[in-house]
Amino acid sequence: MHDESGAGGGRPLVVVANRMPVRRAGEGDTAHWETSPGGLVSAIAPVLRERRGTWVGWNGTASDEVGAGDAAADAFEHDGMRIRPMALTRADLDSFYYGFSNETLWPLYHDAIRFPRFHRRWWWPFRDVNERYARAAAEAAGDGADVWVHDYQLQLAPAMIREQSPGSRIGFFLHIPFPPEELFAKMPWRRQVLEGLLGADVIGFHTKLSAQNFSRAARQFTTARGSDSHLEYDGRRIACKAFPISIDTGAIDSIAREDETGRRAAVLRESLGGRRIILGVDRMDYTKGIDVRLRAFEDMLETGRASADEVVLMQVAVPSRESVGDYADLRRTVEEHVGRINGRFASGGNAAVYYLYRGLDFRDLVASYMAADVMMVTPFRDGMNLVAKEFCAARADEDGVLVLSEFAGAALELLQAMLVNPYDIDGMSAALDRALRMSEDERRRRMRTLRRTVSRHDVYRWADSFLTELATAPGKDSTRHEPAARA
Ligand code: G6P
Repeated sequence: MHDESGAGGGRPLVVVANRMPVRRAGEGDTAHWETSPGGLVSAIAPVLRERRGTWVGWNGTASDEVGAGDAAADAFEHDGMRIRPMALTRADLDSFYYGFSNETLWPLYHDAIRFPRFHRRWWWPFRDVNERYARAAAEAAGDGADVWVHDYQLQLAPAMIREQSPGSRIGFFLHIPFPPEELFAKMPWRRQVLEGLLGADVIGFHTKLSAQNFSRAARQFTTARGSDSHLEYDGRRIACKAFPISIDTGAIDSIAREDETGRRAAVLRESLGGRRIILGVDRMDYTKGIDVRLRAFEDMLETGRASADEVVLMQVAVPSRESVGDYADLRRTVEEHVGRINGRFASGGNAAVYYLYRGLDFRDLVASYMAADVMMVTPFRDGMNLVAKEFCAARADEDGVLVLSEFAGAALELLQAMLVNPYDIDGMSAALDRALRMSEDERRRRMRTLRRTVSRHDVYRWADSFLTELATAPGKDSTRHEPAARA
């Protein structure tokens, strides 16, 4: 299905990400590790196995001991991968994860849909945890490896790893947008964050715009010089490029073709009364536009363009970061809104909104993509949005309409979706109405092209193109040895 040779010329690979590729399952005597589902893990795991690599990540629990530090952090093997768990204390999690990562960086990088909080008491632990990740990565890298650091929680790690493991090539991939320079400028520690990232040889983003925003901020606030796609810094040449992430298209397509999945889709359709289904699937996050989607649907019910006898909105909201106040507030608002809509518009035993506050197992998720007539993905801002791509991969029947926010990275690739502005409720309800009325011909024409896009650009291709770029990165002193003829 994919090439496992992996770029990198056989050098060991170290992956550093806040989440590990495994999770704890079962209890007591039956407790064990299992490989986490999801595209990132399925794309990287084969390369990690092949290259005798290590994955450094948080072990998923809060230890109460202050300074538990590296205890509970012995590396182990699972599923052919070497895992080096990081132990984080409750205090680490409060400052590094909930605080600086998710109340400072997350809102700031997503266009400040909520006000980012800048607290010195979070910044220092954030640095400290990044330092610990860097140390673990440098140990795993030995004399030198290709080290691939992931996401906004670990933006300081690249420079720290470079310092401790100068023989390594370092890549960084940001899974969320990089904000425009004038928003980023608010960050009191902007120079330190940029210098942290500039420790990498290759810095990857979902879109060219994010790469350009980063490069401009780096030229504005550090000594880096160069263009939107290449920087010179500290005697090194650094590539800043777009590598749009994707999904394990083949795996989703296969699950969708299995009888059991088809059966579950049919059961779901029947349990919703055979009505047409509008589907939303998101982490419960204020960037996702769950609230405006409810308003657009409510508008259709109010104006009589939809009725609960014929149409249902199924909203799956996966619990996330529940101890952050903004997330708890959003949950309350969404649940009140669902209650209001159902109170006003339920009809003959049919609720207008079928709402779940929990994750679905993967096969049920694919079954719900298959059962839907219209998929609504309406974030205010999203780095990529993989739900939109998964929906297309699951539609082996080549039917179904995708309504997609123009502010999701995916909108740059999924051009045959119906693109909407999530701030324009009238526009969204009009698009929803059009989606429900679209002819079968048009639906199929659009879906065929969407499916071609997601099968050509899957997550294996993404990982391979990033690692190939990293393997050929020029590295140290690359800006000092230009051929004379070019001087
Ligand atoms: C986004 C981020 C990831 C993060 C994921 C889940 O996709 O880019 O870094 O892991 O959300 O959030 P959580 O806070 O639960 O890890």
